[in-house]
Order: sequence, then structure tokens, then C-alpha cells
Amino acid sequence: MNEPPVQDRIRELTDKLNYYNHQYYQNSISEVSDFQFDQLLAELDALEKANPEFRRPDSPTQRVGGTVTKAFATVKHRYPMLSLANTYSEEEVVEFDKRIRKLIGDDFGYVCELKFDGVAISLHYRDGVLVTAATRGDGVRGDDITHNARTIRSLPLNIAHRAKDFPAEFEVRGEVFMPIPVFVALNAAREDIGEAPLANPRNAASGTLKLQDSATVAKRKLECYVYSLLGENLPFRTHSQSVAQLLAWGFPVSETYRYCADLEEVLKFIHHWDKERFKLPVGTDGIVIKVDDFGQREELGLTAKSPRWAIAYKYKAENAATPLLDIEYNVGRTGAVTPVAILKPVPLAGTTVKRASLHNANQIVLLGIHEGDTLFIEKGGEIIPKVTGVDLTRRIPGSQPVQYRTTCPACDTPLVRQEGEAAFYCPNERACPPQNKARIEHFITRRALNIENLGPETIEQLYEKGLVRTPADLYDLTAEQLAALDRMGKKSADNVIRGLEASRGVPFNRVLFGIGIRFVGATVADKLANHFRNIDAIKAASFTELIEAPEIGDKIAQSIGAFFADPFNVAYVDKLTRAGLLMQTEEKAVTRESDSLAGKTFLVSGVFTGYSREALVEKIEANGGKVLSGVSAKLDYLVAGDKAGTSKLQKAEKLGTKVISEEEFERLLAGGEDTAGGMPMAEFPAS
Ligand code: IVH
Repeated sequence: MNEPPVQDRIRELTDKLNYYNHQYYQNSISEVSDFQFDQLLAELDALEKANPEFRRPDSPTQRVGGTVTKAFATVKHRYPMLSLANTYSEEEVVEFDKRIRKLIGDDFGYVCELKFDGVAISLHYRDGVLVTAATRGDGVRGDDITHNARTIRSLPLNIAHRAKDFPAEFEVRGEVFMPIPVFVALNAAREDIGEAPLANPRNAASGTLKLQDSATVAKRKLECYVYSLLGENLPFRTHSQSVAQLLAWGFPVSETYRYCADLEEVLKFIHHWDKERFKLPVGTDGIVIKVDDFGQREELGLTAKSPRWAIAYKYKAENAATPLLDIEYNVGRTGAVTPVAILKPVPLAGTTVKRASLHNANQIVLLGIHEGDTLFIEKGGEIIPKVTGVDLTRRIPGSQPVQYRTTCPACDTPLVRQEGEAAFYCPNERACPPQNKARIEHFITRRALNIENLGPETIEQLYEKGLVRTPADLYDLTAEQLAALDRMGKKSADNVIRGLEASRGVPFNRVLFGIGIRFVGATVADKLANHFRNIDAIKAASFTELIEAPEIGDKIAQSIGAFFADPFNVAYVDKLTRAGLLMQTEEKAVTRESDSLAGKTFLVSGVFTGYSREALVEKIEANGGKVLSGVSAKLDYLVAGDKAGTSKLQKAEKLGTKVISEEEFERLLAGGEDTAGGMPMAEFPAS
């Protein structure tokens, strides 16, 4: 039997919204804009109110937020983390103000704050010390992310150093975010290694807070703004007093908040920040309007999900509708194919938009795009416009769903998709022109070999003429060949030759980055260069030796192994070596401190208390010792710190190499004898 249309729609909306919620809270992916989400939720809410018998128990209208991730311990919030009623219209702000006046009279004021677009956090302090940090979770229980929150530099771990007279227990609420410049740098680093960029700073922040390794979290440089203080019998009558106190205790409070005596001032605040907010280093999506007085808040009370004393006014991302003319498929350095919508040009938020990203094949299916559809595009606080939906009222009758390409737009090779990946790839990495050209473009960038005067157009010409196939071929070019290219005179050609010449002095870490091994971004190249010191050691390293290098995980190790297993790549790197590029780290001129380690060889593994790894290597060299890159018969001492590599320890044991601790190393350095067999293996827990 057919379901009545209302029940059908309720079912559809419930499923859709639960799916979006899951994507958002569990996978940090926003598939629809907040505006669209809120519209669908409002539609569902209205339908359920009119037809309560069809409301499903799992309806997203019945709960505050997402669910709890398994990987973290669960924390029950002392005070539930409520959400806010949202509005996109000033009329509704006026209504909100009227409602309040009706309930508590005219004698009250507001505090307006920016609505920071990140992840809500609850921080519990006991005796001035941060003891627990939790995410919102479902509003009642959240994830214990204390370790990760402690990496946020602006959050005080103990306020007792700078404050007196604080309550024994209190809770602070705020929003963790990734500053926009950090987000831009993170995405640049991801693109360096062929990984898909993250959609926006909020997803980046929420993904980061859910990482298991707080060391990685620390590197992501998250920030936090706090906006409320909770506790029993606190001595504050108003929100503004408590926020001022938070600031005085050293908490990061954004000083953008204002006391607004009436609605007029609230609206002024809204208008002021409409454009000004883009100058802030943090994403914001609206304003939170809060009644200031705690007594009056109590009087106003709560609804099931949100307080009656506050409302969020959200800025609508500017959007437009325009016809899809075509879909362009771009092939990147790693072969990943990115679809881009080519649009009939349309003005939007101060620029003319002609293209918008479609991210990947899934996105096209999810949006249900047909040929010739009119698309909704949106430009939020962030950078590139995105396609958010289809205007079904303008669909051309009989039009067909867009079919994703099955072959590479450049070389016609059938595209492939690895399990679990969203992107399709062109596997023809050797002969696919855009991949080859992108590898050359990567090689010459400033952070790699920094060869100026060689732009994409010149590379295009060189490639088309068959003069270059790999970056190594650049070093065969003559000034005459270059001068013969379009828009390239003799002077520019000489500059390119000089640039190539100068690149022979570029340090090994940047050469390694420029070579373009998948997943070897600038930071990883630094680590590899520091650890292995030269290209031969990297080429010869086994998988185990690779993962024992600092910060090299399975994925990177596999990629390096696969790269050097291919004779084509070996020939390419050999050609670069023959061209005279630096393939080893330059030995620093070491100031000789003593000869106490002269004639002895060392290998360093693990983490030490008194030295960084680099400092220990320098110490050995400054005292006449030599540092090797692996365990072999030539090795005299393996200096093993905490978490020293198991395979190195095992190999040392097999070869009878002495394994010494940091303390024993220092004795040796001071000219003392080493203890006969070094530290017994049993004292090293397998890591
Ligand atoms: S007050 C009772 N103030 O917005 C609600 N929230 O939808 C207490 N948010 O979960 C929240 N900036 O993640 C408040 N200045 C601000 C905020 C803010 C961002 C977020 C927060 C909260 C969500 C409410």
C-alpha cells in the first residue's frame, strides 16, 4: 500500500537529515550548507507538528546534536550543552525581542557576540586546573578530548598562577577553531602530497580534535574562544560580568562582544559585523544574542532544546542560481581527477563566478545534477564558490543525469577508483600529459627547486615540443632551445638557464620534496633528509627502516618503497644526480669539542630526555664520532632512547652491537669506558 505523501516526506526528511548529521558529526563532512540543513529541519518540524502520529522516534528534531564517537571515553556534562534557536531574518530577531519583553518587561539588556564557526567545547576546572575537556556529543554526553584540548595554546591549563578568588569548581564553554591562515597552510601541505583538501576550517577543527595522537593535534595550532562560565553559586549577576572575569583570569575571550541596551543596538551590531567579520582570522557564521542578566534568564527558562533567552542570527551565505554549461575534468600531479562546473557567468558577492568546484563523482550523484541544470552556488566566508543544489523548477524536461567520465580527459586511459577513496584517478602516470606537466610545475616551485622564469605556459610548450618529459630533462635544455619558444626572448632564456644552474645549490631536503614522491610533502622531506642524510640511504631503506624514521608512517613508507622499486623512477633520480643536484644533506661545519668518540660509529634511535635527535647527532660529530644510517657490522654503538626501533634493537642483538642508553652515551662522551655489553635488551620494552 502506498504511504500518504506527508508520511513519505517525513520519512525522507528524517533519513536525509540523519544522514547529514552523521556525515557532519562523525565524518566532519558538510554535504549541505547550514542554511539548507536548517530549512529541511524546519520543514520536518512543521510537518511533524501537524502530523505528530508520523514522527519517527529517531527524528533529528528530537535531539540536540550528533552522537558520541567510540574511540574516546565518554563524559557526562554537568550542565547539558544546549543548542540555539536559529534565524536568518531580522524580522525574527524583532519577534524574539517582542517575546522577551512580553515575558519579563522592558528592563533588560543583551550581550551580542559573534558566532564562531568551530567545535563547541566544555572545559572543567578544579582548583584552577583544567581537568576535563569534552566535545558536545549529543548535548548530554560528549567525548573526553582532554589530551587534545591541552594542546590549545591559548587555553590556560592552570589559572592559579595569575588569578585568586576563583571558585573551586567551574566550567567554561567555548568554541575551538582552526585559524584561517593555519587552515590555508594545512590544505597547501595536503595538496603537496596529493591529498584532497579539507572543505573548510570547521571540518578541519573537528577532524583534528578527533585525532587520537595529540602530538599531531598540537601541530595543527587550534585556537579557542570561550563565551560562558558555569558553576554553583557563582558571584556574578550578569553574563557580561562573568565574561569580563574569564578575560581577567586569562581565558581567551574574543573582545568583539558588546553589551547592547536594546534591539536597535542589536541590529547595529548585526549590520556592523556583516562584512567586518571577514577581517577576523576565524570563521564566523552569525551573531549570538543573549539576555545579559542571569536572574532574567532563569525567568525566561528553556524549551526542550534551547534557551528562550538567546537566539542565533545567521548570515546567509550569498548565493545565486546559474546554468551549468559544461563539466571540466582536471587531472592533478597524482592523477586525481577533479570535476569543475563551468557556469554561465554570474555576479556573486563582488566577483563574477564562472566556475565552481564539484569535488568528486559522489558529489555529482548526491546533488543529482542533470545536463543543463540550473545550479545553486554559494560563496560563504570561504574562498571558492561551491555548488549546493539544483533548481528543480528549471530542469530541462527529459534531460539526463550527468555521467561521470570513465576515461582520462587527457590520455583516454580508463579511470580507476581505489576502495574507500572518493576521487577517480588516471593510472597512466608515466604518459599522461597533465600529470607529467604538473610534476614539472611542482619541481620548479619556490619551496622545491625554485626555478624562476619557467611558468606553466613555458612548460606546456617544452612538453608539446617533446623537449621535456620529466623534471630531470630540464637540465638538458640549452639557451637556444629556450629562446626559440613563443614569448621567450634570449634574456629570459638566459635567466632560466641561470635558475637551473642555481638550483644545483638547493639543499637536499628541497630536492627530495621536488622529486615528487607521493605523500612526501615538504615536512616529510625534511624529516627524511635529516634522518637518512642522502638519497642512496633512502633508496636502500627497508619498509621497517623507513617507519623507524621520525614521523614516517606506513602510508609514506609504502609510497617511498613503491617509488624506488620502479626502474623508471630510479633512472629519473639518477639523471637528477648526474645533473649535479645535491643528493645529500650538507654536513654542517661542526665545532670540534673533543676527540672522545673518535674512530667510533653510532646509530641513534628513539626519543631522548636531554637531546633532540638532531642535537645528539651533532654532539657525536662534534666529538669525533661518525653517525651511520642503519645497523650493520660497521656499527659500534646503537644509542637507544625511549621507543627505540624494535627491529634495530633486534638486529643489533644479532650482530652483537653494543646498545647503550643516553646516560651511558654521556659517560662515553666524558671519556669514561662504556659498560661492557651496554644495556641488556630486556630493559627495552618492545615498542
Ligand atoms: S552560546 C545555550 N555563544 O553555537 C547555547 N554559542 O548553536 C549556548 N557558538 O554549541 C551557546 N559561538 O558551538 C554561544 N558566542 C557564542 C558562540 C556559540 C559559537 C556555537 C556553539 C554552540 C552553538 C549553538
